[in-house]
Amino acid sequence: MLEQLQPTAGDALLALMGQFRADPRPTKIDVGVGVYRDEHGRTPVMAAVKQAEQQLFNEQDTKTYVGIAGDMKFNAAMVDLVFGEKAQSLQDRVRAVQTTGGCGALRALLDLLALCKPDATVWVSDPTWVNHIPLVKAARLKLAVYPYFDKRGQAVRFNEMTECLSKLGPNDIVLLHGACHNPTGVDLNEAQWLSVAQLAAQRGFLPFIDLAYQGLGRGLDADAFGVRCMADHVPEYVVGVSCSKNFGLYRERVGSAMVVHQDAKTAQLALDNLMVVLRGNYSMPPDHGANVVARILGNEDLRKLWQDELNGMRGRINDLRRALFENFRSHLRSDEFNYIARQQGMFSMLGLSPEQVAMLRERFAIYMPPDSRTNVAGLHIDQIDYFVQAVGAVL
Ligand SMILES: Cc1ncc(COP(=O)(O)O)c(C=O)c1O
Repeated sequence: MLEQLQPTAGDALLALMGQFRADPRPTKIDVGVGVYRDEHGRTPVMAAVKQAEQQLFNEQDTKTYVGIAGDMKFNAAMVDLVFGEKAQSLQDRVRAVQTTGGCGALRALLDLLALCKPDATVWVSDPTWVNHIPLVKAARLKLAVYPYFDKRGQAVRFNEMTECLSKLGPNDIVLLHGACHNPTGVDLNEAQWLSVAQLAAQRGFLPFIDLAYQGLGRGLDADAFGVRCMADHVPEYVVGVSCSKNFGLYRERVGSAMVVHQDAKTAQLALDNLMVVLRGNYSMPPDHGANVVARILGNEDLRKLWQDELNGMRGRINDLRRALFENFRSHLRSDEFNYIARQQGMFSMLGLSPEQVAMLRERFAIYMPPDSRTNVAGLHIDQIDYFVQAVGAVL
């Protein structure tokens, strides 16, 4: 049977990382892979996570299953984190389950929506995070693209985006990046979120928010603006949350799938169905990462420690953004790269052609995917001069 399978294309980013590892040049730089790096080039375990893990190690006295919905303390704490001061008033309308990372949340929610409307279309931004596409396809939903990124202006093509969304209806699902849009770093502003929420209410399409970087853009509350603003305008929407980046828990696979409905009974119905979806998939989630998050969010000292560390990560990303833009300005004597300082989160697109990206790799050992998505957090402050000169040389 297995010989019937077709060869796969392989993951281009993973292949690039293999090439990076094999490159012997000491000046090599990896701005391709999407993980946060500190000033020593490491992706460290956060101190708050270490302390929570120690507590867990000392206190855990069973390894029995956690249940299909996962850790209930984690679920409640995540609703608080995502909805902030709105969480209390939304108590009856929001339901959440623990998932295996943000991808697990996205896939579970897509499967749930496919149960509701197998012929629905999921609209993703142009461009979007590469893995959105296989996730939508795996749920057997139709895929379409709405205009989003203006490459030349490094901004949102908001008029075209709304023109497209204003033609959608109840058979459509619109996938929006909650904050720190991947790969562009260009986010909706508050007025734009509000317009999208109003359009969703008018037209009846379902907003689906992917929140993978809460706290890494403008702050924990500001990055949740979009998710919270929807609650005031639309009767129903869903949110997929990842704890990979803001808790640095990548390999522990921690996430949350949330459904919001104006009617508490329907919200509960959606939760029941979500659990059937999960049961038919991996059945029960792992415990470790979610237990750690619940301990951090549930303890004042640990929470403060985590928030300070998260603020430090965001501060480092923003310092690197400023240093990059200033260096580009002084080296190239042009304001072409000013947008880097305006954008949010780890990524920006440098607007290079695939040929220029290949030259960067061959001549300067700088690794990024062909669309020139650059993980700003992958740079060391001492590498900025070299990086800017190399980009200047291939322009
Ligand atoms: C936009 C976006 N959504 C979701 C995820 C999910 O991440 P994970 O499944 O590792 O939690 C990522 C990770 O890179 C992402 O960039």
